[in-house]
Amino acid sequence: MTGTPAPAAQAPASAGDGAPLLEARHVSKYFGSVIALRDVSLQVHAGEVTCVLGDNGAGKSSLIKTLSGVFPPDEGEILVDGQPIRFSGPREARAHGIATVFQDLATVPMMSVWRNFFLGQEPTRSFGPVRFLDQGRAKDVMRVEMAKMGINVSDPNQYVGTLSGGERQAVAISRAVYFGARVLILDEPTSALGVRQSGIVLRYVLQARDMGRGVILITHNPHHAYPVGDRFVLLKLGQVMGSFTKDQIDVAQLTQMMAGGEELAQLSHELQRVSGDLPAARAAAQALAEDAARTV
Ligand SMILES: Nc1ncnc2c1ncn2[C@@H]1O[C@H](COP(=O)(O)OP(=O)(O)OP(=O)(O)O)[C@@H](O)[C@H]1O
Ligand SMILES: [Mg+2]
Repeated sequence: MTGTPAPAAQAPASAGDGAPLLEARHVSKYFGSVIALRDVSLQVHAGEVTCVLGDNGAGKSSLIKTLSGVFPPDEGEILVDGQPIRFSGPREARAHGIATVFQDLATVPMMSVWRNFFLGQEPTRSFGPVRFLDQGRAKDVMRVEMAKMGINVSDPNQYVGTLSGGERQAVAISRAVYFGARVLILDEPTSALGVRQSGIVLRYVLQARDMGRGVILITHNPHHAYPVGDRFVLLKLGQVMGSFTKDQIDVAQLTQMMAGGEELAQLSHELQRVSGDLPAARAAAQALAEDAARTV
C-alpha cells in the first residue's frame, strides 16, 4: 500500500524551551481610518487554552486573521516557537501547524462525514500503476479520530449537513488535530449552539488541550471561556483591556470586564422604560438589573 498521506505531525511538537507555540507581539492592524487592532499581544502555549473575549467589532476576527496568515499585521510581529515569522498566507500558517476552524465554513454540508474529514487529502492505495481512493481506510481513520473526541459515527456516509452543530464542529476539530495542528484556533465555535452542544464543543477543546495542542478559543461568552481557559485576553475596540491567567481572575470579574456593570445597568433602565406592561420585557429588564448588581 502506498500513497497514504501521513498526517504532518501526530505528536504535538512543543517548542521545548518553553517558548509559546504561537505569539502576537504588539500587533496593530488598520483598515483605512479604522483601527482594528492596536498593540495587541497574546501567547498560546502547548497544552493550554487561550481565550479571546470581546464584543462585536472588538477585533477578535482581525486578530485571528493575523495569526492564521490571512493578512500580515501592519505593526508588531507574529512568532512561532519563539521565532518571528511573516506568513505569506493561510497555507503557510497551516504548514506551521496553525489550523483555524471557522464556524460556518468548516465543513461542507452536502458531503459525507468521511469525505469532510479528509477534504482532498484522502488516503490512496496502488494497484500496479493505478491509484485508488482507500475508502475503507479513510472511514476507519475517521471513526477512530472522531472516537478520540468522544463521538461515535454510526454511518460515515451520512451527510455532514444532517449532523448537529456541535458534531460538525467535532468533525472540523478532529480533522485539524489529525492533520497535525499544533495550534487550533476556534472562531466562536459555540455562538450558534444550545447549552448541551456548547458543552460538547468545550469538551473537544479540553481534549485538544490534553493532547498537548495549544488552543485559541474566541467567544463572547465568559461562562464558556472560564471553565476551559488558562489565559484570557479581553479586547475592546481593538485594544487589550486586560490579559490574565486563570489564577488572576474569577468568572464574575471576567463577566464584569466583558459587559461592564454600568452598561448593563443602563440597558436594564432603558428596557424598563420601554417595557410598559410587557411581562417578557419586564423579566429581561429584571434579569439585566440582577446581572448588573452582581457584576458591579
Ligand atoms: N476587511 C475589513 N475592512 C475594513 N474594516 C474592517 C475589516 N475587517 C474588520 N474591519 C473592522 O475592524 C473592526 C474589528 O472587526 P473584527 O471583525 O475583527 O471584530 P470582531 O471582534 O471579530 O467582531 P464580531 O464579534 O462581530 O465578529 C471593526 O470595526 C470592523 O468593522
Ligand atoms: Mg468576528
